[in-house]
Amino acid sequence: MDGYTLTYKQPSRKDFVDTADFDQAEILDIINTARIVREFIKGGGYLNSLFHKNLAMIFEQKSTRTRVSFEVAMEQLGGHALNLAPGAIQLGAHETIEDTAQVLGRMCDMIMSRVDKHESIEALAKYAKVPVLNGMSDRVHPTQGVGDMITIFDHWPAGKQANQIKVVFVGDATQVCNTLCEMTTKMGMNFVHFGPENHKITDEWLEISNKNVEKYGGSCIWSDDPKSLEGADFIYTDVWYGLYDKETPKEVYMKDFYPKYQVNDDLMKSTGNPNCKFMHCLPANRNEEVTDSVLDGPNSVAWDEAENRLTAQRGLVLHFGGVAQATLDYIKQQKEGK
Ligand code: CP
Repeated sequence: MDGYTLTYKQPSRKDFVDTADFDQAEILDIINTARIVREFIKGGGYLNSLFHKNLAMIFEQKSTRTRVSFEVAMEQLGGHALNLAPGAIQLGAHETIEDTAQVLGRMCDMIMSRVDKHESIEALAKYAKVPVLNGMSDRVHPTQGVGDMITIFDHWPAGKQANQIKVVFVGDATQVCNTLCEMTTKMGMNFVHFGPENHKITDEWLEISNKNVEKYGGSCIWSDDPKSLEGADFIYTDVWYGLYDKETPKEVYMKDFYPKYQVNDDLMKSTGNPNCKFMHCLPANRNEEVTDSVLDGPNSVAWDEAENRLTAQRGLVLHFGGVAQATLDYIKQQKEGK
């Protein structure tokens, strides 16, 4: 099989709510599509695969990367995105999520939403007749996860197999941590959540990911022992607080995480791997969960990671828009000069 042929000609499900709903082959198809399209666009190629297609973007929270990457991806692929920011539509005030889903599904070709509660994205997916993509819920951040896997593939340690790669998520078990745990084990890597016991990844996510381990290899653990950082190829962190309005105060979070779980030069050195890369989903609270020296340092791939949100969104809208294979066929023809 060449790189231009997908295993799944069409998506196995209508919606992209959680990466755990998809097997390794389909996730690899999305990543493969995204990387080929990135190369083609960076090389000056133009695509019109989503001509006249509209993506409704519903945000219940603020966003920089998710909003901009989806909007740019749609435009680059010949389509259009509607930014339905908090307060811009009737949702929440006069209209239910179920009714909103039915209406948007009649006017738009796809829906992407960032929601406060995971149940809301499930309701959107159930009531909309068109594909619904999860732009982050309180449970998972699947579009981030696809971009993160692309970043890991881009910075793959030379000569290593997947089961020799170690990814350590440091700090609070956020929705980004849940998805990273699920995705890395689905790719057969070794995952560690290094964090305090009162913020540890749930047993449910360890169980889901250990099923991946049985199928694809690798490993998956939680630990509060700094020795678990040894041999890491990637250190990843996320904010300790600030994702939601009504939550534990900053002072309490700082006490739980600082200084042990701050990603600083000493923590990076404690991996024993001078090539260990640093990742962050962003936005960062600089000099809290990560120091400037690490985020801006030579081993940081956080900016590549941010750019790969765009790479990932192109792959996702093409795949769930049902035109991934046609797009790869077109790119192949262009490259062969047909
Ligand atoms: N990482 C991420 O989702 O960024 P935004 O909140 O800016 O979309």
